Amino acid sequence: MSNVSTIYKISVIAFALFVGASSSGCSVLECWFVQEKPGRGGGFSAAMSQEKSMIYVRTDPDSQKTQQKPPSDVDPSRIYHVIDPAATFCSPALQPPEGSLTRPQCEINPFTPQASMVKWAAALTETAQSPTYLDADWFSVAAQGLDGQLTLSNVMRASSASREPSVILSVSSKTASIRARLGQPVLLDCGFWVDPSSPLHGSGFAVEWRYQFRGEGRLVIAYDGKTDRFADTLETGADLDITSLYKSGNASLVLEEAQVRHSGTYICTVYLPHLLAQVAMELEIVEPPSLAIYPSPLPLSAPGQVVSVHCEASGFSPLSLNLGWEFTGADGKRRSLGQGSVTGHRQATDGTYSQSTRLELSSTKLGLGRGGEVTCVANHQGGSRRASVTLNIIGVSAPSIEDSMAMVAVALVLYGVIKVFFWTFKSTVETNKSDPNDKKDK
Ligand SMILES: *[C@@H]1O[C@H](CO)[C@@H](O)[C@H](O)[C@H]1NC(C)=O
Repeated sequence: MSNVSTIYKISVIAFALFVGASSSGCSVLECWFVQEKPGRGGGFSAAMSQEKSMIYVRTDPDSQKTQQKPPSDVDPSRIYHVIDPAATFCSPALQPPEGSLTRPQCEINPFTPQASMVKWAAALTETAQSPTYLDADWFSVAAQGLDGQLTLSNVMRASSASREPSVILSVSSKTASIRARLGQPVLLDCGFWVDPSSPLHGSGFAVEWRYQFRGEGRLVIAYDGKTDRFADTLETGADLDITSLYKSGNASLVLEEAQVRHSGTYICTVYLPHLLAQVAMELEIVEPPSLAIYPSPLPLSAPGQVVSVHCEASGFSPLSLNLGWEFTGADGKRRSLGQGSVTGHRQATDGTYSQSTRLELSSTKLGLGRGGEVTCVANHQGGSRRASVTLNIIGVSAPSIEDSMAMVAVALVLYGVIKVFFWTFKSTVETNKSDPNDKKDK
């Protein structure tokens, strides 16, 4: 039975560690409190003020407020004791290791509940009256974790002047910055949580995905949970899983097959009656090039002769690519032959690019000796690619076995040709002479 007690002890310790870790991993967040400067109404540019702020987080409203002393440079009115039942602020991505120089970014703003204007969220606030529940202090917090692992947007409510806001709506994504290769399925993560004790819980929601690239935007998908309907969009190959949307607040967008045109910013917005929270994420489609080198094989070359070799890199995205040439001699040493003449790029209908380079191989100028391996090298964000051909230069001082054999073969063929020619010539001469006995004399 001692085994059982050991297991028991271990689990108690593990639990204690877990609790210790989770309570310390979820205690405080440094934020900037940003708002429009008061008393400047009607100006052209809304001047913003920025103040240091601290958010102390606890998951249980009945637990003690932290005894931690806030830094002296933080105004006491910018210290918030937040109740976060779903521990949305507790992700390790928001807790930098002790002494870390890079910190999560965090901004807190005053928030004003209002009925939504978009079609797919209009049904949420059909009754024009706004509930007294909304009459409180509202805040929104946007936070970005370390290494682009997490982006979070929370809407919080504090009964007036309490400065103890509770998280009511939380939207987050674990794919704040994501890369995909062409043709792969892509999951753009987005999840939301609504405080079950809030009167807004269960009164409907809507989800919207928008795409933005270089100032242009379009609706990808929009789902109105109140009427259980999708908005009409032109987008194909993009999907939401309605079952997991209802089951676990999983509003992730799935793109069936990544294409170059999918690169850009995606914004996931969740609407509740009078509230909304949104997170943005970056998708980049990165595809390394395929290389083709020609002519392949290269023709046999003699010293002093110039052979031109081409390398074509195609199907890559994004555009930036470095092309170059390398030579590996018979001694196994590798060196650069430079870039060659690089052409401008072309774009295919699928949005991928191609570009090529040409190299003039002059064995004497480049000092290529008896030849070796000529390699085209392409360096791209998505990885580097290489393609090689063999260059044979014949008739150089120390011929290789292959060269000697080739020369013997050439000699044999020449010998045969001469012999055949000789016979033919001879018999012609003999026929002309019309003297059959001549042959016997020889
Ligand atoms: C959310 O749903 C997608 C499918 O739509 C699934 O691939 C993904 O794993 C889900 N995420 C979570 C956290 O359950």
